[in-house]
Amino acid sequence: MEFPFDINQIFSERVSILDQTLVAGRRSAERPDLQAHIATVIDELGRASAKAQQLTAPITSASKLQSQRHQLYLLKDGESSGGRGVVVGFLKVGYKKLFLLDRGGVHIEAEPLCVLDFYIAENLQRHGYGLELFDFMLQHKNLEPVLMAYDRPSPKFLSFLAKHYCLTQSVPQVNNFVVFEGFFFSNRSVA
Ligand code: ACO
Repeated sequence: MEFPFDINQIFSERVSILDQTLVAGRRSAERPDLQAHIATVIDELGRASAKAQQLTAPITSASKLQSQRHQLYLLKDGESSGGRGVVVGFLKVGYKKLFLLDRGGVHIEAEPLCVLDFYIAENLQRHGYGLELFDFMLQHKNLEPVLMAYDRPSPKFLSFLAKHYCLTQSVPQVNNFVVFEGFFFSNRSVA
């Protein structure tokens, strides 16, 4: 995904972690113009993700990120576009208090880290970038994928989880979240 400004100037790392502050390193904290560019990038990514999932409205935008306690991991390829860099995709996670059903149908209240949105640019899908981004997040959070909950996962994402993390056996829920066999062994109830 290309932009009419230098991606490498805004995002110095291959993976940037953005939160409510919308700051990607010290440089953007001191430069309102760079922050405006960050907002443009997030809005564009959110729109593309919504389109790919056939959602009526984006679930990710700069203003939403500013008002929610979520974290957004943004992956760039710094070499492309004549050295200005391109944005490859993003992964958004956040903690949510959920009422879930375990395998026996017992209600469990838990507050797991949830995958809320995930998108890799169309022309770059199936090249391993999603795995790179997801693995980065798991290391950063020091977490196993089975301990997470997935908000309305798309067929592509379910295939991704099955392929890379052998997550195939989901435990039926009455909400939009998907959790897998093993989730309830390790997630402690917060009830
Ligand atoms: N059709 C089916 N499976 C796919 C597809 C596709 N078009 N693209 C990726 N996958 C799955 C497959 O398991 C694939 O393995 P395979 O090629 O051997 O079949 C595997 O992902 C490839 O892994 P990566 O290359 O690491 O994944 P990628 O970089 O493509 O990222 C992602 C995966 C984020 C799901 C990407 O395909 C995408 O952006 N899809 C469109 C948006 C989307 O559906 N996002 C998930 C929303 S749900 C949520 O966020 C909770």
